[in-house]
Amino acid sequence: MEEKKKLTTASGIPVTNNEDSMTVGPRGPILLQDFHLHEKMAHFNRERIPERVVHAKGSGAYGTFTVTQDITTYTKAKIFNEIGKKTRLFLRFSTVGGEKGSADTERDPRGFAVKFYTEDGNWDLVGNNTPVFFVKDPKKFSDFIHTQKRDPQTNMKSATMLWDFWSLNPESLHQVLILMSDRGTPVGYRHMHGFSSHTFSFINSNNERVWTKFHFKTEQGIKNFTNDEAMRMRGEDPDFAQRDLFEAIERGDFPRWKLYIQIMTEEQAKAFRWNPFDLTKIWPQREYPLQEVGVLELNENPSNYFAEVEQAAFAPAHVIDGISYSPDKMLQGRILSYPDAHRYRLGVNYEQIPVNRCPFMVANYQRDGYMRVDGNGGSTPNYFPNSFDSIYEDESYKQPAWNLESDIADWYNRNAPGEDDHYTQPGNLFRLMTPEAKQNTIHNIVTSMKGITGSKKELIINRQLCHWFRADVQLGMAIAQGLGLSMESLSQHMPQAQ
Ligand code: HEM
Repeated sequence: MEEKKKLTTASGIPVTNNEDSMTVGPRGPILLQDFHLHEKMAHFNRERIPERVVHAKGSGAYGTFTVTQDITTYTKAKIFNEIGKKTRLFLRFSTVGGEKGSADTERDPRGFAVKFYTEDGNWDLVGNNTPVFFVKDPKKFSDFIHTQKRDPQTNMKSATMLWDFWSLNPESLHQVLILMSDRGTPVGYRHMHGFSSHTFSFINSNNERVWTKFHFKTEQGIKNFTNDEAMRMRGEDPDFAQRDLFEAIERGDFPRWKLYIQIMTEEQAKAFRWNPFDLTKIWPQREYPLQEVGVLELNENPSNYFAEVEQAAFAPAHVIDGISYSPDKMLQGRILSYPDAHRYRLGVNYEQIPVNRCPFMVANYQRDGYMRVDGNGGSTPNYFPNSFDSIYEDESYKQPAWNLESDIADWYNRNAPGEDDHYTQPGNLFRLMTPEAKQNTIHNIVTSMKGITGSKKELIINRQLCHWFRADVQLGMAIAQGLGLSMESLSQHMPQAQ
């Protein structure tokens, strides 16, 4: 039987009455001295912390990563150094644009953020369920996200904002096509893939670098809602994905993903026909095949949502020995953005929250700050170098140098030669789809574009149609017809022979 405990205030003082306030007479006014009442009300008023500015609605679970293949020729990362090695992890899935209380079945990319608790520190792989992204420069991120949120005047979501931005940023076409396919409405989180999306570097024990991308393939099989099914589910069970994940783990039906990598050498990267660090592009798998690495399994539900899921803090900055960054501009921007967001959302000592804490050694001279609850280094020195402790800088973790021969300049890069092919990959993707997938994608695009309103409606539709036509003439034609445009008006959108 559970041990009986006295009810107490936060300071441990036994409470004699938890339901009646202390009053002058049984019906009289409440006394200022009922500090327990104040404490209850004051704590309640402070229960909310800022929600994540993006990816606010999410679900998380603990699990294990197990190595099944030897990739030590590419990386010395200790997490991969032995077949059969197991590493504990925490994974948080999310939608992107909606608020914390929004429905799980919105058309949106899904976040796929993994924190691996490795002996060389926590490695955070903060990806999505899509291999590409809407923009390729972090300066555009906040503008893009504003279009996914609410109109500043109406406080409603706005198809006009979405398509205005996308039509002015053709680099978004690849991701928009994926979003508008039924992959934009997955059946929960268990039936979708996860991707690093970015290119990272692997460094092996000879200090040699190759470029890599990570792919998590669902073992549950891909399953998507159609637009209509997703819309229905938003009403029937707004927390569908949370319920699906939580209940699967509770009944022991542990979801699994196989981890694969793609590898590109530095020489191959120089010769690649696109910028290999452009986040709006994939590396074709026929040329850069997937190589299996291991299995990720989720097998433990958190016991407290706020403590573990809401307070989880992931950062693409957190890479470990043997894994490093790439010149991908979006990745570079994210290195700065996430820890900054955590300091605002959770406070400067967010790394001490148990779900974020490295279970292995942490030793540094950071001290004090709000909510420092780990003893603050006790009586040990708070400066470096010092003559008292034996904490040292370990040069064996140093990375090989990057040789960058270039000028610092305000590169006006968005449509520069070699950077302006926004159409080949989305066109190829559309042509690869099954007839049913094509039909659903066209239906979803038409349904969404029909929501464009206002004085710029025609301009926005025409601009976006041009992009669809440039990706694939049949796709452009089908969307134009779906929007009820005449053959005459269509001819102006057709790509001209070069
Ligand atoms: C969450 C910024 C691009 C995946 C966030 C958060 C910020 C942010 C501020 C909230 C963090 C928090 O409060 O905990 C940015 C910026 C980007 C960018 C500035 C581009 C420059 C991306 C990309 C991906 C991505 C390309 C995927 C490939 C995620 C995920 C989360 C997230 C999965 C939720 C993490 C969690 O579950 O806590 N992002 N983001 N973001 N972002 Fe990004």
